[in-house]
Amino acid sequence: MKVLLIGSGGREHALAWKLAQSPELTKLYAAPGNPGIAEHATLVPVNTEDNDAVVSFCKDNAIDFVVVGPEAPLVAGVADRLRAEGFAVFGPSAAAAQLEGSKGFTKDICARYDIPTGAYQRFNNAPKAKAYIREQGAPIVVKADGLAAGKGVTVAMTIDEALAAVDDCFEGAFGAAGAEVVVEAYLDGEEASFFCLSDGKHALALATAQDHKRVGEGDTGPNTGGMGAYSPAPVMTPEMVERTMKEIIEPTMLGMAESGYPFSGVFFAGLMITKKGPELIEYNVRFGDPECQVLMMRLKSDLLPILYATATGTLDKVTAEWSDDPALTVVMASKGYPGSYDKNTPIKSIPEAGEGAKVFHAGTALKDGALVAAGGRVLNVTATGKSVGEAQARAYALLDKVEWDNGFCRRDIGWQAIKREKA
Ligand code: AMP
Ligand code: GLY
Repeated sequence: MKVLLIGSGGREHALAWKLAQSPELTKLYAAPGNPGIAEHATLVPVNTEDNDAVVSFCKDNAIDFVVVGPEAPLVAGVADRLRAEGFAVFGPSAAAAQLEGSKGFTKDICARYDIPTGAYQRFNNAPKAKAYIREQGAPIVVKADGLAAGKGVTVAMTIDEALAAVDDCFEGAFGAAGAEVVVEAYLDGEEASFFCLSDGKHALALATAQDHKRVGEGDTGPNTGGMGAYSPAPVMTPEMVERTMKEIIEPTMLGMAESGYPFSGVFFAGLMITKKGPELIEYNVRFGDPECQVLMMRLKSDLLPILYATATGTLDKVTAEWSDDPALTVVMASKGYPGSYDKNTPIKSIPEAGEGAKVFHAGTALKDGALVAAGGRVLNVTATGKSVGEAQARAYALLDKVEWDNGFCRRDIGWQAIKREKA
């Protein structure tokens, strides 16, 4: 099978690494890819923001299957265009991608199908949103409706903080994403991420993970795209997984189909495990980054037929087998991230990773033949172990051999799970 992978981050490096192990793969292309992905794929300079360019490439190169990594091309309709041209695609239609693109859309599906989530209201003006906040009291959560690069959410501990967040949204702090605001009840509990494939009719549960969104140790400081993750999430017991499937995933799949937007791709459910059980915080319609890296380390089955079955409505015919060993990844980022940082700083050396370990590339590039850091999150140092503690020790031992002066990382990835292991 000739496959085109769209994307250029650590998530796509992990997907490329895993796809490249498939006996069914004859050729892997990646657009635009990165130097790590280039170990497994031929990089092609196709503009992935231009759906016509993607379609032309697929036609010219007789591509059998397209795997879309990030959300932006999905929201822009790349999967719709490719499907209309007869290509098999892993990733939802633009209409189904609203599940990530619009928090209000998702909340309305939850309300109609009785999916557990925080009580909420949608607003298109500040006075009404503020009146509702005053009525509900704090803590309360204010969210810009649209895609705001993970920055559109304020978990307000006071009413004043919530009111200020409403002003930020309507005054344009998040651009068009803030033209509508969702105000929702604060959920108290432990967060977990759950990944599940859907072909529109069948669902295949994959695995669970926990990430670390804050830049600072002890989960402090500003939010980022994720500073590290581990899988599985101990809070997601088999009972919680079963409840998540029944109470959240299956009704969502049904709701999407009945609304005319059958969902084909990966449900990445952000959950809060509260006293009542799993409640939905949000959906993403793509693999998490860096959660995907730890999932791929644990997946024992061939990824390619599983993704292809998702795209072709035959998910009931495949299974996914997972290693019981936890995997953990530590993100190395450019100093200054998530604020401003220097670009093109040299990465002198990346160590050879042995069995059960891998350094995935995220924001790297080649400049005059030398490897440089070209983005905020740059490397994902990943390892497995018999426990999260062992995976963590192995990941940091490998990370300490990376020679990159402008890089930094958190030293406490996995702390929640390790605290449990020690208890
Ligand atoms: P989101 O972008 O919707 O995932 O929100 C970002 C983060 O805000 C989540 O990972 C949670 O930590 C937090 N959050 C979002 N919604 C809620 C909620 N209703 N209650 C408590 N925390 C929340
Ligand atoms: N790591 C969080 C995300 O991919 O959205």
